[in-house]
Amino acid sequence: MNTNVDIFEGFYKDKTVLVTGHTGFKGSWLCIWLLEMGAKVIGLGLDPYTERDNFVVCGLSSKMVDIRGDIRDAALVKSVLLKYQPDVVFHLAAQPLVRLSYDIPVETYEVNVMGTIHVLEAIRACEKTKIGVMITTDKCYENKEQIWGYRENEPMGGHDPYSSSKGAAEIAIASWRRSFFNPKDYEKHGKSIASARAGNVIGGGDWAKDRIIPDCIRAIEAGIPIEIRSPKAIRPWQHVLEPLSGYLLLAKRMWEEPTKYCEGWNFGPNADSIATVWEVASEVVKCYGKGELVDTSNPNDLHEAKLLMLDVSKARWELGWEPRLLVKGAVALTTDWYCDNVYDHYYKKCLNQLVLFISEI
Ligand SMILES: NC(=O)c1ccc[n+]([C@@H]2O[C@H](COP(=O)([O-])OP(=O)(O)OC[C@H]3O[C@@H](n4cnc5c(N)ncnc54)[C@H](O)[C@@H]3O)[C@@H](O)[C@H]2O)c1
Repeated sequence: MNTNVDIFEGFYKDKTVLVTGHTGFKGSWLCIWLLEMGAKVIGLGLDPYTERDNFVVCGLSSKMVDIRGDIRDAALVKSVLLKYQPDVVFHLAAQPLVRLSYDIPVETYEVNVMGTIHVLEAIRACEKTKIGVMITTDKCYENKEQIWGYRENEPMGGHDPYSSSKGAAEIAIASWRRSFFNPKDYEKHGKSIASARAGNVIGGGDWAKDRIIPDCIRAIEAGIPIEIRSPKAIRPWQHVLEPLSGYLLLAKRMWEEPTKYCEGWNFGPNADSIATVWEVASEVVKCYGKGELVDTSNPNDLHEAKLLMLDVSKARWELGWEPRLLVKGAVALTTDWYCDNVYDHYYKKCLNQLVLFISEI
């Protein structure tokens, strides 16, 4: 099998790239892709949550510079950038869970808003860093439960503490861009800062609580019914490699034309890849070959958005980015990661999935 996964024309080869949140679900996949393209990868994040996390089972700690630290510590974040001098920063570290944010709202804001500001300030202090891609979420928009996908120029908002913290992070990113990284003054600061909003991301190696795929897998493994809290909720599902391909392409374009692409970008699925929670869980059961769903919806449960879609026209037309997989393909690849134990090494499994993914267009 040809395992060349560089679809970015050698851009990342020998670049120093900092990934915050490298021990997490999306961060670990991003590090694998970057390593495979010859980048020198530095990670800053907390310890992985479980021994089964993608970061752990792929043995990533020994393949990259693995720094464990808290982005709420501004001095630490700055010291990491000054020591390693990254060309590009992908900022993914966050408290990313809606339901947990109701339990720890202050911490959610500290990490998601102040943590983001600390990363922006560190980028400001590090002359070598040219690009910052700051990851927020589809939930940063003021959710009107509308049937149309949100566009990048719509207002920020968010009902729960997680969503609103990401809306607030977006406002901070835009403010820092206007104040310190203004494209008008590019010759003076030499930096390009963008934000990226993805949909509901699924993929192997995620064991987070209250996310549909890990919830399904845990229940199937335990031989108990899969409890579905919001069966009718509609989400923009996408495989983890979809938004990552968008982030990687965006950073390359920003490097080439720094004053053109320093804005907010949506990286969601095509409209025909939108499905309910129940449909996605049913697809997991089908692919896994076992499992049973039970509807546990309760009208008094914590508020979670019921309808959320992203409009990806801008990324499609201006970056030339396209989603590759339909929801069934994304679920099949994801379930394969959890139930196929043919490979003894998960790094190889991820790489094989990456090869399959990039051959999809
Ligand atoms: N998974 C999704 O469906 C989804 C959708 C849209 C956006 N996002 C965003 O993508 C990013 C990554 O999400 P994920 O799903 O990989 O989450 P994750 O929970 O798997 O990973 C989060 C990462 O952030 C790190 N982190 C958390 N608190 C930190 C702190 N105080 N200091 C340093 N590091 C800290 C963790 O150690 C981990 O490496 C987040 O910004 C999230 O909001 C995720």
